[in-house]
Amino acid sequence: MPLMQINEVQKHFGGLRAVDKVSLDISEGELVGLIGPNGSGKTTLLNVLSGHLQASGGSVRFDGENVLGFKPAQLVCRGILRMFQMTRVFNRISAFDNLIVSGLAQGLSESESGKRAIELLEELTLTHVMYLDAGQLSGGQRKLLEFGACFMAKPRIALLDEPFAAVHPVMKETMSAFIKRRNEAGQTFILVSHDMPVVVDLCARSVCMNAGKVLADGPTDQVLHTSAVIEAYLGESDYEDQHA
Ligand SMILES: Nc1ncnc2c1ncn2[C@@H]1O[C@H](COP(=O)(O)OP(=O)(O)O)[C@@H](O)[C@H]1O
Ligand SMILES: [Mg+2]
Repeated sequence: MPLMQINEVQKHFGGLRAVDKVSLDISEGELVGLIGPNGSGKTTLLNVLSGHLQASGGSVRFDGENVLGFKPAQLVCRGILRMFQMTRVFNRISAFDNLIVSGLAQGLSESESGKRAIELLEELTLTHVMYLDAGQLSGGQRKLLEFGACFMAKPRIALLDEPFAAVHPVMKETMSAFIKRRNEAGQTFILVSHDMPVVVDLCARSVCMNAGKVLADGPTDQVLHTSAVIEAYLGESDYEDQHA
């Protein structure tokens, strides 16, 4: 049985079908790339999966349980964790305390949280800034911190929304290595990214959305060579820049 079964999920904003009957199965241990031009509905789909938006229709089963309509906190308890396109950390407490707060929210004890935080700060090369307020960190460091916060308790599935956007190449390297290692250890991911080289490198399977619908779903190489996918991207400056 797939870990997550997304069946004909819809999200409408007035007359706009931002997500239009999307069906996908995600198996345990998969790292699935979710791609598609700007405005194709990727963030909206993640928002529905993480409980931040109420779906207009369809169903989502997670580990066999119908979880559509659950609140984000209920989903976090079930191991569905989410990173946002716009970094969300607590700017006025230290990097270390950000991780502690997340650990406690994810059900770890204070001592477990402390231990995990130290390990993650080390892995994410943030040890030297752990006592600085998160607001004093660079954008990339805050992104890495948000990564750490998601991984305090091992999530069942991590939903990442453009984690590499506007991040320094060295930190991008740290992040993609982190994702790769976690995936090799069995961690399941959905990764939204415009960065095709990274998607090709990390994701064996990709799903391309356009205008709220799934255009293609399969091995990443094949998906990127599907004519409907190429057409959807024509005129997308991000894609052209990266393939120039
Ligand atoms: N809260 C909202 N209210 C109205 N329209 C929205 C809202 N969020 C997203 N949209 C619209 O839904 C479509 C899909 O957006 P989004 O999911 O952000 O796409 P992507 O992440 O693929 O760039 C876009 O047309 C966007 O303008
Ligand atoms: Mg988006």
